[in-house]
Order: sequence, then C-alpha cells, then structure tokens
Amino acid sequence: MDIEKILSQMTLEQKAALCQGADFWHLVGFPELEIPSVMVSDGPHGLRKQDDRADNLGVNDSIKAVCFPTAAGTAASFDRNLLYSLGEAIGQSAQAEKLAVVLGPAANIKRSPLCGRNFEYFSEDPYLSAQTAAAFIRGVQSQGVGTSLKHFAANNQETRRMSVSEEVRERALREIYLASFEGAVKEGRPWTVMCAYNKLYGIYCSENPWLLNELLRDEWGFDGITMTDWGACNDHVAGIAAGMDLEMPRSNDYDDQAVVRAVQDGTLPEEVLNQTVRRLLTLIDKAQSRAHQPDDFDWGVQHHVARKIAREAMVLLKNDGNLLPIRGNQKVAFIGGFAEKPRFQGGGSSHINCTEVLSALEAVRSVSPVTYAQGFEPDAVEADEEKLAEAVRAAKEADIAVLFLGLPESIESEGYDRRDMKLPEVQNRLVEEVLAVQKKVAVVLHNGAPVELPWADQVPAILEAYLGGQACGGAVVDLLFGAVSPCGKLAETFPLRYEDTPAFLDFPGTGDRVVYGEGIYVGYRWYDKRKMAVRFPFGHGLTYTTFEYSNLRLSVDNFVGVPVTASVDVTNTGDFPAKEIVQFYVRSDHDGVDRPVRELKGYGKIALAPGETGTVTVTLDRRAFAYWEERTHTWRVEPGRYQIEAAASSRDIRLSVPIDAVGEPLVIPVTGDTTVGDILTIPGAMDRFASILRPAKIEEDKSEAASEAVTAEMAAAMMRDMPLHAVRSFGSHLSPEEIDQLVADLNELQGL
Ligand code: BGC
Repeated sequence: MDIEKILSQMTLEQKAALCQGADFWHLVGFPELEIPSVMVSDGPHGLRKQDDRADNLGVNDSIKAVCFPTAAGTAASFDRNLLYSLGEAIGQSAQAEKLAVVLGPAANIKRSPLCGRNFEYFSEDPYLSAQTAAAFIRGVQSQGVGTSLKHFAANNQETRRMSVSEEVRERALREIYLASFEGAVKEGRPWTVMCAYNKLYGIYCSENPWLLNELLRDEWGFDGITMTDWGACNDHVAGIAAGMDLEMPRSNDYDDQAVVRAVQDGTLPEEVLNQTVRRLLTLIDKAQSRAHQPDDFDWGVQHHVARKIAREAMVLLKNDGNLLPIRGNQKVAFIGGFAEKPRFQGGGSSHINCTEVLSALEAVRSVSPVTYAQGFEPDAVEADEEKLAEAVRAAKEADIAVLFLGLPESIESEGYDRRDMKLPEVQNRLVEEVLAVQKKVAVVLHNGAPVELPWADQVPAILEAYLGGQACGGAVVDLLFGAVSPCGKLAETFPLRYEDTPAFLDFPGTGDRVVYGEGIYVGYRWYDKRKMAVRFPFGHGLTYTTFEYSNLRLSVDNFVGVPVTASVDVTNTGDFPAKEIVQFYVRSDHDGVDRPVRELKGYGKIALAPGETGTVTVTLDRRAFAYWEERTHTWRVEPGRYQIEAAASSRDIRLSVPIDAVGEPLVIPVTGDTTVGDILTIPGAMDRFASILRPAKIEEDKSEAASEAVTAEMAAAMMRDMPLHAVRSFGSHLSPEEIDQLVADLNELQGL
C-alpha cells in the first residue's frame, strides 16, 4: 500500500470517517481507494467473533471457538514460552477467522482482589504482568495478527469504570500501574493499544495527550495505533488531538462531522489528522499483507493445547502428608457441582462460545472409578440439605474426597466488582461437614481471584485451578492423579481476609473519584512491608517433588549500570519429574528512599527429572534496581548495597547475595525552601559552606541554661530540617542577597 499516495487522494470526509469504526467490529474500508475493511474481535483467552448481533458484554452469541485458561491462571505458569504458544494458537484461530486484531491482552494490575475483571488480568506485580503480556503479544503477532494491549491505563475496578477518576500518585503510577504496560509495549510491540474507559486525574484516558503521545509514543516508542475501549470516546476531536486514532465502535455521524468542522475551522490541524490516518492505513496494510489461511488449523487440536496450557496454569497451594497425587488403589469421591459443570471462564466481553467442555467428572472416567455427589448446584448460595447429606455420605465412604468448589458465574464478571472475598456459604458448610467424617480431603478451586478460605488449616490439599478454560477438567485430573506434576505459582497473594488488603479503605472510591492511598504498596509489597501474615504468598506453589537451591552467583560484585546476570543451581531432590519456577527478587539493603521489602525482577522455569540439577539465569538491568524519583520525574538507582535473592516464593527466600550499586546522584535544584539536611547530601556542599551550614551551629550557640533542655540530637535534627530561608534567623544573619548567592552557588556545584 502506498500510504502517502492514498493519503493524498483521500477527502477530508474520508479521513474523518476512517477514525471511527464502520460498525461494532470493523474498521471503515474504501474499495475505491483499495482500502479493505478489516475486523477486530475479543480476546484475550480465545475468540469472541460475532458475526451478526454485536455487543461488548458477551450477551449475544459469537462463533464457536476454543476457550483457553484465563489470564489469572496463565500468569501463574510464570512461563514466557507457554504464553507465546497460547498467543500462537489464538493468532492462528484469528487468521482462520479472517481477523486483523485480537483485543487483548489486558495488563491492568490487580489492585484489589474484588475487581470483577481480575480473572482477565495477570498479576499484582508489574514485572510479571508485563513479561506475560509481552510473550502473549509476540505469540499472537507471530501469526500475522495484531493485538490490542488494554486497558490503558489504571483501569483497576469495574465500579463506575466509565466515569471514575483514578488518582494514583506519580511513583505508584510509574512503578506499578504503568510499568505493566511499559514492559509489554517495549518487549511485545503490540500493533495497537486500547485506552481505558476511566479518567486519570480528571482527564479521560481517551483524550489524554500525556498518556497517549508523550508517554506511550515519545517515551516508550510505541508506533502502532491507539483505539478507544468500546464506548470510551468522550470528545472525538479532543481524542484525535491527544493521539487517539480510532473510536470504537462506530457511534454516529456527528463525530465524523465534528472532525471535519474542527479541521475546517483550524481547531484541529490537518497534519494531526493526517498522522492519525497514516497510522491507521499502516495497520490496515500490515493486517492485509499478512492475511492467510493457516494450513492445518483445527479446533480439535486447539482443545488439546488448551488442556496442556491449563495444567501449567494451576497452583498446588497445599499438600500436607503428600495427600496428592491420588494413588491408583484409593476409593475416590468427587463432590461439588463444579466437578460436573466446571467454571472455566469469566463473564463479559471475554466470554467464549466454546467448542466443547471437558469436566473433571468426564475426564476421570478413563483414569479411575469415582463416586460422585453434587453437594450443591454451581450457582447456589443456600444449602440444599439433601444434596449436602448425600455428599457427606459419599465422602465418608471413600478413602479420599475431592471437593470441587468455586465462585458462581454471577459473582465474577466484567461490569461490576465483587462485594466480598467469600465463597458461597453452602460451600464452606460442605467443607466443614465433610471434614467431620473424612480427613483426607483435597479441594479444587474454580475462581478467577482470591477467596477467603476459613477452613484452609484443616484441609490437607488445595489445588487452585482458576478459570482453566474449556479443557480444565482434563487438566485437573492430570494433576490430581499425577500424570503430570503441578508447576504453577501464585501471581497474586491470597490474603487471610478482605480487610487485610492494601486498597481495603478506598476501593472502589467515593462517587467518581478513587484515591490510591496505598501508593506503591500493592500486593506482596504491602503484606511484606507491614509484616502481615497471609494465607498463601505471592509466588507460592507446590509440586510432587522438592527442589534444593545452591550456588547463587552474580556476574559482577558492583552494579555500574551494565546489566548483571544472576544464576542459581536447582536440584530435583524428590521422586517426581517436575518444573520449578525460580524467582529473583531485588532488595534494597541500605538506608535511603522508602522501598518495598523486595521486588520481583526476574524469573525462570526449569524442568528437572529426579536427581537432576539445572541452572536458572536471569539478567538484571538498571530498572531492576531503580525506583521512580518524584522530585526529578526520572528513574534513579540509589547508590548503596542491594541483595539479590533467589526464591521459591516471595516468602521462601532460599539464597541471597549482595551487590553494591554505584548509583546516580539526586540532582534537585536548591531553593530557599531546601533544607540544610538536603543541602548537605550534595557532594562538596559541606566543605564549601561549612561555616553557614554546619548542623552543630545551634549546639554551639546555645546558652548554658538551655543545655539541659536542648540535646545535641535535638539541635542537629532541627538544623537538618530547617529550610535555608530560616537559617538566617538562627545566627547566620545572612542577607537576602547572600541567600540568593548561596542558592546559586549550590546549584552551580550540582552542575545546574
Ligand atoms: C471491554 C473490552 C473489550 C470491548 C469489546 C469493552 O467493554 O472493556 O475489554 O475488548 O468491550 O468487546
């Protein structure tokens, strides 16, 4: 496509029309200009392609497609290759269905466990979320289909999602919420980014020039198109001026007309519109030139891929006394409605009309005889006494009872947040009554986000199956019976109770405003800093074997800005072949800027046979050590000692080695408001201005009578926190001119 030529042939009306969808899922095409109309479709864990009746809430049917495990589970695989192959499979199906862009992945951070869409999001940790999203993007796009990284940015709740203003302090925004998108953009290079519905500090994300142009394009180097979330356009002209390329879906003719008028009256420079059109044409060209029919595409094969991925997307949370895997000669009872009708996906725009569903009850038939008692209907909240009694009887008569529990579909969906973190009461009652007659109990959980588990200490085994896609029943059976060893680890903390969670006090905000009071302390960063007990920590996950870590080493002892490699040897010390996820955390080990206790900065997954040893290596670059400095609006590595930790979970640190970072000076312009303490951190300030700035000056000057009341510490502290303009009142008698000179000299000393 000769984009410049086409652009020169387009009328103003055609250019304006291209910036809006043609309908719910198509972009506008102009056959006379040989611009085809390409189609986009949800994502992100399978296709939701709607041929006829369109909607963005998953209300109307879409074509049949394979439903893969949702993001909450796939992130728990900590496996970039797995996410790439998931992306490949979805990309392939999108090619087969003639789609240009799959609307996903979603890289929003799990700020609160109650967010209704957490099942669609990867993690509470930005590094893991970004890495997982990037691998998925690369996989889809390897098939010549684009992705739409969504929902940019800070869309962390469903309550009032279309109007709420997210008020996140700059450091938290950068280190947590934006970092998840930044890594995905830089490493995944998505063809498109979808903006969020919400506002950021009062400005709609769909018309925020800082977000869309300065940050996304200029700073991160994004070169694709931006589109609105469905219905997220507020003022189309303002959106285009701010860098928003495409309004989706088509709203009406008024928006086209407004763009034409704005160009005609000079409110919107035509070159800005041309730039948008160039980007849109580039996307259409890319999609068109890569469109092909994949040779061997088959939904049946994809179902098997879904089962394989699901096995890796589940987490063995507990396994006391090696209750699992279930041995061949045991009498097994499957209990709970989810054994028969698994909950395997969430509600809303990601809802898939799947080709088939494999329940655990069906999958187990080829593996072992089991008895089954429903116990409760999957969507029941109240107990059915008869079903409950039957379930308790079945549990008593068996050698081991497997309880399939989870959240009813109506509780977890796009469009609204959960009200609490509880399982339906009937399910908690079932566990308690079963425990009274049977000690060998394994619980399988089907949920998209953490739930409170009041009975967790009494139940010996718990398998978190998440919303594992249409083949989840097969994967659960594979893991329960040991055909494969579980290998997922939690991409989020399971708190003991909702009241413990970081955003508890201000989620989901008041009216149209939500303030992120917890700042950077999201997920494990919060629980670790406050030294709180949790039910299961971030990064936790068991398997049927044990691993020993040894020989943690770094490529260098000092970090001078050049990436460092960290390696650790891992040995499978048990009897099962299995995979281990090794996490590398960076911990600041010096006094200075307030930091989380530890932060995930690298991870690797390794498959080991019993007795085998392997090595996991990661690279730690500048960002692994840096924090966002709000005073200079930059990333900064603080000089000092850090610890590099090799860990089996965020609360199971196996080995740690120190590294010293040369770091970067903090250069902040001195003014009359700068404190003496801050001035003294400027290298050379003490020598040059000792007579004026010495912290002991007050101590020297004080009278004998005051010596008992004013200690040296007190005097030093008062001097340290005294702004320069106040120093003249305490003995230095500097004139305003002298203070100005001092400020100028200090700034010169800093090279400013
Ligand atoms: C959702 C998006 C989705 C879009 C199209 C919106 O309601 O927030 O994630 O891609 O609808 O269905």
